Amino acid sequence: MAAADPSGDPPAPAAGHVRIYEVGPRDGLQNEAGSIAIEQKLEFLARLANAGLREIEATSFVSPKAIPQLADADELMDRLDRAPDVRYPVLVPNERGMARAEASGVDAIAVFTAASDAFTKANIGMTVDESLATFGPIVARAKDKGWWVRGYVSTAFGCPYTGRVEPSRAADVGRRLLDLGVNEVSFGDTIGVAVPRQVSELTGLAVADGIALDRLAYHFHDTRGTALANVMAGLGGGVRCFDAATGGTGGCPYAPGAAGNLATEDLVYLLDGLGYEHGVRLEAVLDAARFITAALGKPLSTKVGQAGGWDPKTGQPTGRI
Ligand code: COA
Ligand code: ZN
Repeated sequence: MAAADPSGDPPAPAAGHVRIYEVGPRDGLQNEAGSIAIEQKLEFLARLANAGLREIEATSFVSPKAIPQLADADELMDRLDRAPDVRYPVLVPNERGMARAEASGVDAIAVFTAASDAFTKANIGMTVDESLATFGPIVARAKDKGWWVRGYVSTAFGCPYTGRVEPSRAADVGRRLLDLGVNEVSFGDTIGVAVPRQVSELTGLAVADGIALDRLAYHFHDTRGTALANVMAGLGGGVRCFDAATGGTGGCPYAPGAAGNLATEDLVYLLDGLGYEHGVRLEAVLDAARFITAALGKPLSTKVGQAGGWDPKTGQPTGRI
């Protein structure tokens, strides 16, 4: 059932289903400076599942030197009380990460490369070609086990080292990930520079390259306030999976002080108003957003985090304390 239309108009016609892929515990937390206790991470994960999120990227099996915030990944997955109907993918950068994933009892992983060699080098110490060569056997092994596998293409619109990225290049890397056997490709606007026209262009090229719409996701950062506009462009092109982080955590390591990931609460409000079904309850997302930003010692600064939802019957905000 579609949620109440927050605009106050008659209920929006059913517009179909959208998957909200939560990245707060991984992408959101990995860039946060203050370290967070494992108990707080587990509580955050529990609140996200309680909010109806059914795909929650839990952590990363990367080098603890690269991402100290997620150095507790093995213990986290060991202690995580996994909801039976929730998928908890973990990031895997190499064979070592795959071995840790295998030992932790996961059934979903994400591998990650980028559309630019300079970024991939800085992020995982490999060129794009080298990363794809590394992921080939990992993806094959994961698929043999019946796992679900996602592939990320970071810097799909722009690179902090080399600037503009040609959409054909991003689409090509996505296609090569699919050829390795991943279930889904998520194109990331890692530094938050994309505008809707570029999203539409990339969707068209990706589909023309053989990436079916139901295998395509977008991962927007709201660094320059364009994330929701970019979601609209994705929806318009037929994409039905969007990444978001509850509380809009994450920031941007290349733009100090900038906004982080597209906030799950902002995305949920938009999708509700448009009549898309997604199964996520805004009030419960706001609860989880308040929890994690308090744990980080930060104010909740997302749009809907500040304003709350809206009840058209009373004209009053909802989900605020
Ligand atoms: N898990 C834990 N430790 C790992 C590891 C993994 N998956 N992969 C490598 N390491 C350790 C090695 O054991 C080694 O440790 P040591 O210095 O104590 O001997 C050290 O990390 C360096 O290993 P090396 O194989 O030389 O890798 P590297 O230094 O070239 O780093 C990555 C490569 C991929 C491990 C590293 O760049 C990384 O983890 N990047 C992740 C970045 C990320 O998560 N970005 C955000 C997502 S977009
Ligand atoms: Zn991101």
